[in-house]
Amino acid sequence: MVTARTRDIEKAAGVLRAGGLVAFPTETVYGLGANAEDSAAVTRIFQVKGRPPSHPLIVHLADAQHLDDWVQDVPATARLLAERFWPGPLTLVLRRGPRVPLEATGGLETVAVRVPDHPVALALLSAFGGGVTAPSANRFGQVSPTAAPHVRAELGDAVDFVLDGGPCEVGVESTIVDATGEVPSILRPGGVTREDLEAVLGRPLAVHATSSVRVPGQHPSHYAPRARVVLVEPEKVVAEAETAQELGHQVGVFLPPSVADTPVKAHAVVALPASTAAYARGLYGFLRELDQRGCDLIVASLPVEEGMGLAIANRLRRAAGPRTTE
Ligand code: TXA
Ligand code: MG
Repeated sequence: MVTARTRDIEKAAGVLRAGGLVAFPTETVYGLGANAEDSAAVTRIFQVKGRPPSHPLIVHLADAQHLDDWVQDVPATARLLAERFWPGPLTLVLRRGPRVPLEATGGLETVAVRVPDHPVALALLSAFGGGVTAPSANRFGQVSPTAAPHVRAELGDAVDFVLDGGPCEVGVESTIVDATGEVPSILRPGGVTREDLEAVLGRPLAVHATSSVRVPGQHPSHYAPRARVVLVEPEKVVAEAETAQELGHQVGVFLPPSVADTPVKAHAVVALPASTAAYARGLYGFLRELDQRGCDLIVASLPVEEGMGLAIANRLRRAAGPRTTE
């Protein structure tokens, strides 16, 4: 029997084959996909996102077995990480194979690859049969979409087809690991924790998260809602929010679990979940919600930077970063 889902996946694979753009769910966030080997389609991704062409994309594969079709000189550590964490929220940066066009890598001789852990993404990748380059399906610098309506609200008709796979389980993007050498390092914290990577590798991993900011074309503010984001110590969140509200701001508050019972006079309050996994899953939705409720300022604090807290803190810092577009 052909279900609606199967029909949708076949339709989406056809759109990719024809050089179109398909938004699809992954376990992290929704991606804006194109045939990785179609330079014109890849170029359209940058236009639709408003993203500088020097800013490289991730190639999504159906199976780790296809890795050597896309990259070369794969170190043993990279194979170990792929074997252990794929399908899953881990992206490996490796040496580019000839099949990957330079449009997809922003001219770099390395390429980012991952096998996502989502049944709809994997069905699409299998039906299509090739690699799919996909950044998060949002305009450049904005909050990533974690549900299909977010994609439609942000990209509308600019995308040829939206595959709806429900809300994303992980909620923040994949962990990016530079695996070109024998000693890997983290370029972006994400859905696979540093602790899990270190347990598999048996040694500590450096986090060079700021170095990915220096990838040409990136600017400090990213993952940003419309409202300005201010970060303070957890015990100062309530006082900071109330002061700003009194000054005339429409304040949205990310209320940390440690002060959950404190009443707060603000425009909108999000009581944060105690588990960092639930916080990560909800993070981008909370930012969107506060924008929708008309907040112009969001007061938040950083979680403890361990486990998923590392990725959450990274996104909050970037959301609070200086806005060069303002
Ligand atoms: O979870 C995810 O990773 C999502 C889903 C859709 O897979 N994708 C995603 O893509 O977050 P995007 O384009 O929003 O972020 C990709 C990041 C960029 O910051 C880019 O700089 C980095 O990957 N990247 C890609 N290729 C790279 C390379 N060759 N060297 C260093 N960084 C690279
Ligand atoms: Mg993105």
